[in-house]
Amino acid sequence: MSSTKRILLIIGGGIAAYKCLDLIRRLRERGHHVRVVMTKAAHQFVTTLSVAALTNERVFTDLFDLDDEREIGHIRLARDADLIIVAPATADLIARMAGGHADDLATAVLLATDKTVLVAPAMNPRMWVNPATRRNVVQLQLDGIRFIGPAHGEMAERGESGPGRLVEVPDLIAAIETAMAPLGAEQGPLAGRHVVITSGPTHEPIDPVRYLANRSSGKQGHELAVAAARLGARVTLVTGPVSLADPSSIGVRVVRVVTAAEMLEAVKAALPADIAIFAAAVADWRVTAPNASKIKKSSAGGPPALTLTENPDILKTIAQLTKNRPPIVIGFAAETQDVLAYAKKKLKSKGADWIVANDVSPASGVMGGDRNTVHVLTSGGVESWPEMSKTDVARKILERAAEQLIARRAAAE
Ligand code: CTP
Repeated sequence: MSSTKRILLIIGGGIAAYKCLDLIRRLRERGHHVRVVMTKAAHQFVTTLSVAALTNERVFTDLFDLDDEREIGHIRLARDADLIIVAPATADLIARMAGGHADDLATAVLLATDKTVLVAPAMNPRMWVNPATRRNVVQLQLDGIRFIGPAHGEMAERGESGPGRLVEVPDLIAAIETAMAPLGAEQGPLAGRHVVITSGPTHEPIDPVRYLANRSSGKQGHELAVAAARLGARVTLVTGPVSLADPSSIGVRVVRVVTAAEMLEAVKAALPADIAIFAAAVADWRVTAPNASKIKKSSAGGPPALTLTENPDILKTIAQLTKNRPPIVIGFAAETQDVLAYAKKKLKSKGADWIVANDVSPASGVMGGDRNTVHVLTSGGVESWPEMSKTDVARKILERAAEQLIARRAAAE
């Protein structure tokens, strides 16, 4: 990246704060100017001395330092930056941001800024999945705050693993630079368009610890969201539980759901849209009456008989809307045999404009893999694409959909 940018790094109080030293070094190597605000808790993990040495700047720590206020107060710190990155963002800092607090320098700056804010969370996985943190993250995303990570993996605490690690420095840098150079969004063929995408599996509870689900990594769906954003669209990604980094750092709004019913509600709430793509592997059935407590093997007298109810078909529901139906509705058909025959049936029965069909039999390696071979079915016929990466499949689908929207607009004018 050639142009020098002014980055304000807010270091929160987490073990991963040490990674910020490397982050500062790398950002400066790339020509960026870095200023740092440290929270009180951050002092437990890194020293102002090392941060000041690396930034070649004073480090800002106090809201009520009168000298600071005269020289450079929180308003100027907020305004002088091209981007603010919060790393590591602890559960507490995220909660205070979501609540609009301004009782220390870090939160006051965050409340006073109108610049892009990128948050890189790091915390214990149980804190990350706690409903309070989930609520706060969703609130911040709705407020336009972008997230990068957390990554999955081992925690500093022994034996703990899951989502909660600060993403690695190269990924942080990529997210920072992407956020500052927003993909030529104004010029992209999908500029001004809204694209809604479903991705990942849904989990349908049997009891608090067990669930029914389809196999799905979410890779293709998430790639579609990235491709749509790269073409300039405003993107809402409604995703079931996946272990992928979420693409909110490039401006995708991510709505996390668990069940098919929640996914349908989230998609409806996201409408109107110009394009809707249903790449999620939605569980076809849910347990009619999930048990409130864990079903014990001993008390059940043998395996429990599960009574299932059919889930709503999200693709079909949206494709058949009479009001607010997106002009282009695209479904996927995941088949293990007779791919084209089943896909043709789905094109009709669901009311989709296109069906993207793929062979997901174990031998194909598509499930969880990075490559895909698809056939695109429309009322005009079938087009078979050669094997390519899921990234390329996503880009081609979105480019094709964009062309179609542009052609329709031209025809309507
Ligand atoms: N789909 C959906 N809601 C459901 C089931 C499927 O939105 N309850 C969508 C998927 O996201 C996909 C398409 O419908 O775009 C086809 O999904 P697939 O699992 O291949 O087919 P099903 O409709 O579930 O039919 P079957 O399981 O009989 O193949």
